[in-house]
Amino acid sequence: MSTERYVSTRDALRMSEGSEVRLRGWVYRWRDLGKRVFIVLRDSAGIIQVVAKRGFTPENYISVAREADVESSIVVEGVIHRDPRAPGGAEVWARRLEIVGPSRDFPIKGGESIEYLLDKRHLWIRSRRLTTLMKLRHKLFQSYREYFNGKGYYEVSPPMLTQAAVEGGATLFKVDFFGKPAYLTQSAQFYLEALIFSLEKVWTLAPSFRAERSRTRRHLYEYWHLEVEAAWSRMRDMMNLAEELISHTVNSLLNNALEELALIGRRTEELEPARKPGYPIIEYEEAIRILQRKGVNIRYGDDLGADEERILTQEYETPFFIIYYPAELKSFYMKPRPERPDQVLAFDMLAPNVGEIIGGSEREDNYEALKKRIIERGYNVEEYEWYLDLRKYGSVPHSGFGLGVERQLMWLAGLDHIRDAIPFPRFRDRIYP
Ligand code: 4AD
Ligand code: MG
Repeated sequence: MSTERYVSTRDALRMSEGSEVRLRGWVYRWRDLGKRVFIVLRDSAGIIQVVAKRGFTPENYISVAREADVESSIVVEGVIHRDPRAPGGAEVWARRLEIVGPSRDFPIKGGESIEYLLDKRHLWIRSRRLTTLMKLRHKLFQSYREYFNGKGYYEVSPPMLTQAAVEGGATLFKVDFFGKPAYLTQSAQFYLEALIFSLEKVWTLAPSFRAERSRTRRHLYEYWHLEVEAAWSRMRDMMNLAEELISHTVNSLLNNALEELALIGRRTEELEPARKPGYPIIEYEEAIRILQRKGVNIRYGDDLGADEERILTQEYETPFFIIYYPAELKSFYMKPRPERPDQVLAFDMLAPNVGEIIGGSEREDNYEALKKRIIERGYNVEEYEWYLDLRKYGSVPHSGFGLGVERQLMWLAGLDHIRDAIPFPRFRDRIYP
């Protein structure tokens, strides 16, 4: 079978009247009208309608078509018939059909609840919507690589099993490492920092894990984290890189993924303004004032939660930065702002409809200052010994950031919930499938 030539549904749709074709795929939809059986055949490229009909298809193969239930895998041989009424403008009149793997009573029929579909994720992943989102995700990943290759960054591979917290102890997943405690990584940042002393500019795309306490529409327990770190780089340099990266990915999808964006019903005109870098920048203090003006009960020093972020994102049609947060709201490793040491050289990027997609900063590069901050926060200095070492041997100014890939995809694809931005989301009440 595999030595024979097959065409994809996409190629078949482009072929001329009367072309002989052989296709393989799965039964997406199925209708028996007596004299004719209509099968919508699905493969990784798309769908095409197959017709088995009396007077053209031999009787025994019409019977096969009748038995080809939803999600059976099949091979079809036939002839292209161009017909403007057929989806995609052409269909296949079948001469021969073969069921490769039967499917009886596929458990998803339409109209099921979200919870049910999560239980059946291993099957639901075949849906057109999820297939399209996975293709978008693939194209997004490609555009990240394109960007960093063009910028001379090294792609590196940090560990997933770690011994200390990067973003605080509250969201750590503990694992048993041969009788000793270890943790699933929250961020590759410290390892990237170690690598800049030789490679200077590094990035990685890897899972991060957060034992988030609440289930929200933009939190995953396991998510994919794009992280960047560069020696000699100041906060502003890193912000420029971040917005260049984001605008590059927007251009890339608007140029190469219009089909996918249309299939999921994305209004692409909403993404157009984000093609160009130069996203707005506001200080945290200004963000607080904007919120107060809008009647939000918030004061300088309060953290910005999901609600506050939503109100702020409504002010802009592109992603934007919030910078200079009060130090106590942010991580211990961030460098204080020289003219306001109670604030840090930190930046978040917020995207429309989603809120924070990037968190970054310039890092504290002074040994004593960093050690002092570790102690002030009540952390165990021993666990950070190697991280402190980086400031002992040839320290340099450096900055970096982390981008939540599913959050970016949520924005790009216009999703209300993060779960469909990743093929198999993990949930608190189940690791299944
Ligand atoms: O803001 P965060 O916690 O920053 C860091 O981890 C830094 N160490 C990154 C760095 O500078 N190298 O996380 C970075 C981004 C967030 O802006 C968000 O997009 C995403 O990671 N993120 C999550 N995405 C999905 N589910 C979660 N539970 C997430 N937690 C963070
Ligand atoms: Mg953050």
